[in-house]
Amino acid sequence: MIEHQPTSRWIAVEEYLSGVVVRPDQSLRHAVEAALAAGMPPIEVAPNAGKLLKLLVRLAGARRVLEIGTLAGFSTIWMAQGLPDDGRIVTCEYLPRHAEVARANLDRAGLGHLVDVRVGAALDTLRELETEDAGLFDFVFIDADKENNPHYLDWAIRLGRPGTTVVMDNVVWEGAVLEPALDPVNAPGIVAALQMMGEDPRLDATVIQTVGSKGWDGFALALVR
Ligand code: SAH
Ligand code: DHB
Ligand code: MG
Repeated sequence: MIEHQPTSRWIAVEEYLSGVVVRPDQSLRHAVEAALAAGMPPIEVAPNAGKLLKLLVRLAGARRVLEIGTLAGFSTIWMAQGLPDDGRIVTCEYLPRHAEVARANLDRAGLGHLVDVRVGAALDTLRELETEDAGLFDFVFIDADKENNPHYLDWAIRLGRPGTTVVMDNVVWEGAVLEPALDPVNAPGIVAALQMMGEDPRLDATVIQTVGSKGWDGFALALVR
């Protein structure tokens, strides 16, 4: 991966905004601490981005959410907080240990009943969801292995419907999208997904660049036509 090189002023402003505007609750603060204590990498979305996910879920009126890449469930908790009481999130996680920490964090947040954590390679889980006829998703958050981003985007469309909202994390990757050779593992998948967002007639998309505790990155927002 590309090293994050956040500047202290970006982080100071992020912390200010987090305290004044974003105001993550105790369950969200605990989820980050539990992930650190479990030795997991600090690669969850920043609090302001998590709150954006919650608000987008609410603005979309989403009832069924699909997440690809759970980690410790930080983004999952944010999105669950934007759902109605009969809402549902299916979240895909490859590592059993991550899924276990996420389940504990979701239960502690009182949101466990809304969330189905599926352990395994997301591409396998997505195929299962299709055969299970799990229903169409209103909102999809893609945030796992970047090599598979174009496949995940295609699955988001297949398991979605016209009007489904798709958000993809890490689409700027410290600027490596301009020079994929800087990160030959991750950058090509990010670039391919961005090209698809611009060219695929099934999508209408934009990207917001972000700075802060997670360095220089970006959030893509796409609407399934
Ligand atoms: N969305 C989380 C962060 C996810 S980090 C948050 O913001 O809180 C990316 C996660 O994707 C890691 O936990 C990693 O184990 C998982 N992952 C990587 N490859 C995967 C795959 N092929 N299928 C499912 N999960 C995968
Ligand atoms: C990594 C993954 C992420 O989803 C992220 O937001 C930051 C870093 C990583 O795999 O390094
Ligand atoms: Mg991410």
